[in-house]
Amino acid sequence: MDLKNKIRVIEGFPTDGISFKDITTLLQDAEGLKQCINQMADKFKDLHVDIIVGPESRGFIFATPLAYLLGTGFVPVRKPGKLPAESIKYEYELEYGKDSLEIHKDSIKPGQKVLIIDDLLATGGTMVAAAKLVEQLGGEVVGLGFLIELMDLRGREKLSKYRVESLVKYN
Ligand code: PRP
Ligand code: MG
Repeated sequence: MDLKNKIRVIEGFPTDGISFKDITTLLQDAEGLKQCINQMADKFKDLHVDIIVGPESRGFIFATPLAYLLGTGFVPVRKPGKLPAESIKYEYELEYGKDSLEIHKDSIKPGQKVLIIDDLLATGGTMVAAAKLVEQLGGEVVGLGFLIELMDLRGREKLSKYRVESLVKYN
């Protein structure tokens, strides 16, 4: 199945000039959702994965069912101030200002093989932060998986030391 056909593109959202990739039309389609998770599993079928990490919030949608399918646990990377137990933080620069993401300190065990899943690869900033958090806990990032990759933003270059897989590409 061509998943691209199920993703709705909305021009001018949230601001002029942006061509927004709306995954809700894929998610609400039973066969589309199933295919999406199955295709992600297929991309990494050669790997041994101990645990799957997903960044809040759209990453949760894909990382958790994939973890269920592969028989692993799921670990959230969250926006600041959301995690209740002891956490570590990674701060990164945005065009204007700073952002940060957090992970629970006891979520990844040293040496675990970690797959990180998100809905979209744009600049790569979110995924760099998630990967650094995993590595700070001693996890080994064995793969990064995305539903969508925005090729023009060249996020893949920031992630060149990792294996990156995406299901649907846009220029
Ligand atoms: C979006 C998207 C990715 C990220 C990609 O998340 O879900 O996580 O941006 O952009 P990047 O490659 O430039 O970092 P967003 O921060 O909008 O939050 P959401 O998932 O909670 O909607
Ligand atoms: Mg996100």
